[in-house]
Amino acid sequence: MYARDIKVYDEAYRAFIHRSLADLRRCKIGGHTLLWEASQLAAPSPQNARELLLDLGVWLGWSTRLAADASGRTVYGFDTFEGLVEDWQVDDQMVIKSGTFSLSEPLAQRLMPDTGVTLDADGLPAALGRNVQFIKGMTYDTLAPFLASRPDDPIRLFHMDLDTYESCQHALEACKDRFVEGSILVFDEYLVTNAEMLAFYEFQNKYQLEWRYRAWGLEMWEMNVEMVTSAWKRVPYYFLAVAVYWVIGNGNFAWAFFSKRFWRFWLGAPTGDIGFMLGAAGQRKSVSLEITGLGTLDRTNQRNNNPDK
Ligand SMILES: C[S@@+](CC[C@H](N)C(=O)[O-])C[C@H]1O[C@@H](n2cnc3c(N)ncnc32)[C@H](O)[C@@H]1O
Repeated sequence: MYARDIKVYDEAYRAFIHRSLADLRRCKIGGHTLLWEASQLAAPSPQNARELLLDLGVWLGWSTRLAADASGRTVYGFDTFEGLVEDWQVDDQMVIKSGTFSLSEPLAQRLMPDTGVTLDADGLPAALGRNVQFIKGMTYDTLAPFLASRPDDPIRLFHMDLDTYESCQHALEACKDRFVEGSILVFDEYLVTNAEMLAFYEFQNKYQLEWRYRAWGLEMWEMNVEMVTSAWKRVPYYFLAVAVYWVIGNGNFAWAFFSKRFWRFWLGAPTGDIGFMLGAAGQRKSVSLEITGLGTLDRTNQRNNNPDK
């Protein structure tokens, strides 16, 4: 949202964005939203054995492995392992081309040995002793058969890190019948207003969901660098991350200090929003929320209205 003038959106979505800013400010956490949520889940038991924990978009697999560590439960990770399926237009900031985040890219090829990740014969990252299962392919092809093989299993944790609007919107639709009251949805890049946030805004509107924000914290990306086993090898990765932040990441807006859009924000935004955005600098883009009412997705209502179901 710091990369786009939100006046391009209709009034209802603009109001949603303003409400989100106000609510999120109240649920700032220190750590990574995904790991915080995973650690809050009940320990594995026969009562929750069928609950699904999904990590959508896993790259080297660290978000999946760390979520499994934090929850003590099985986490299912979905990825093409060949990169983004669509171009990702990040608000008005930049376009990240389809194919980016392929495991064959130089950065992934370097980070894999440095973090101890190997690939098996099918091209799937190794579990490395964690309770994870990776599912290779586009979520457009893999999610529906995966869910069909586990009929009626509810989704307890849904981590969205597919980045693009299209993939996010499709995943929400594919999973919609498995959401329950208490499902936790974590969006890794929620503050990008034309992708994950927009997809969720439309989704909750369409099905009249009831929900509440729970946490606003760090996204998972930099955890990959934390996983580099040698401390001295971590140093160049940190330098690279800092350079990327200032040159093409959010820090790049500091250079645009005198641009018209920048001044419109500083002069026109409520002071609370300015404070929020200053706090949002860096990787604090991950947001979690809890579904508290299923709206028209409520299966009991559907059954009552349609006795054949
Ligand atoms: C930002 S990376 C995920 C990073 C990972 N969660 C982490 O924190 O290390 C996004 C991943 O989503 C995958 N991806 C994007 N769209 C996809 C789709 N529709 N189906 C499967 N994988 C997809 C890409 O291959 C890429 O690995």
